[in-house]
Amino acid sequence: MSTNKRILSGVQPSGKLHLGNYFGAIRNHIALQQQGECFYFIADYHALTTLKDPAVLRDNVRDVALDYLALGLDPQRTAFFRQSDVPEVTELAWMLATVTGMGLLERAHSYKDKTERGIEASVGLFTYPLLMAADILIYRAHLVPVGKDQVQHLEMTRDMAGYFNNTFKVDLFPLPQERLDTVPVVPGLDGKKMSKSYGNTIEIFAEGNALKKAIMSIVTDSTPVEAPKDPEKCNVVALYKLLATPHEVAKLEALYRQPLLDAESREGRPFGYGDAKKMLLAKINDYFGPFRERRKQLAAQPELVEEVLRQGAAKARAEAQATMRLVRQAVGMLPAPVV
Ligand code: TRP
Repeated sequence: MSTNKRILSGVQPSGKLHLGNYFGAIRNHIALQQQGECFYFIADYHALTTLKDPAVLRDNVRDVALDYLALGLDPQRTAFFRQSDVPEVTELAWMLATVTGMGLLERAHSYKDKTERGIEASVGLFTYPLLMAADILIYRAHLVPVGKDQVQHLEMTRDMAGYFNNTFKVDLFPLPQERLDTVPVVPGLDGKKMSKSYGNTIEIFAEGNALKKAIMSIVTDSTPVEAPKDPEKCNVVALYKLLATPHEVAKLEALYRQPLLDAESREGRPFGYGDAKKMLLAKINDYFGPFRERRKQLAAQPELVEEVLRQGAAKARAEAQATMRLVRQAVGMLPAPVV
């Protein structure tokens, strides 16, 4: 094993990824490939807690795989795989269940939040954190890049690792740490946080008219076109900032404050929100254009994507099986190791 830190994260296959996902997580996942030995997986077992349509699950898994590969996941460096291709995690989840008190799971926020949103209170939903802990511990990962909403799950994972180590008097699981990167606020079309549940997203791989329609529907205020506008209060500027250089942002802000700046390039018209939206659209096209091309190429080679996932799973599974051997020894299902 390399002395590198082992970095692991799971991605829920929940449909079309959007700019909020990109700037909130994916971009960091991709960048972290330079900083350690990464294991990234598509959390399809977890998806079953909310998704009961096989065709949708298949499509979503395929979409996430294509999205990540197109956006820069490097299968030479990173083990990228489907969670369910390593069924050993469910065995470890069981082992962890036997050393974890009910009280720990009863305190989970995510279960409460999800059932309040109307998701069926299945046993699987309740034990979601056990499976997530197994995901992390089976690869004996050190660092888990996640969003704030997952921090409690990481705390629970450390607790479970400790219960197991203490119960069986072993030092098998290192205690994993969450890695919380500071991420920018990504406003949605209506100015609220961009989120699939608000229906205000801009999809990463939208293009053409669909993308244009989305951008043109970004909510702006009713300042008249000739009046100075406040760039600090504008969703278009906030989105533009995520993609443009500081110099380009300064230019846009100047146009907001002085709508007649460079008016000759617009046949004398003052600069309005429509012009700003066109600039944003062009930026998005520049930035994501090459990724879209790559995604189309990959989509045309489904067997290549399958092969990537198969190889990722082979690497992950070998690790998982090595851990499970130690776990089975620790609990007494295999002879004790000779020391
Ligand atoms: N619960 C995570 C989410 O909803 C997904 C996930 C499953 C995960 N297993 C994981 C994340 C292990 C990190 C590590 O986003």
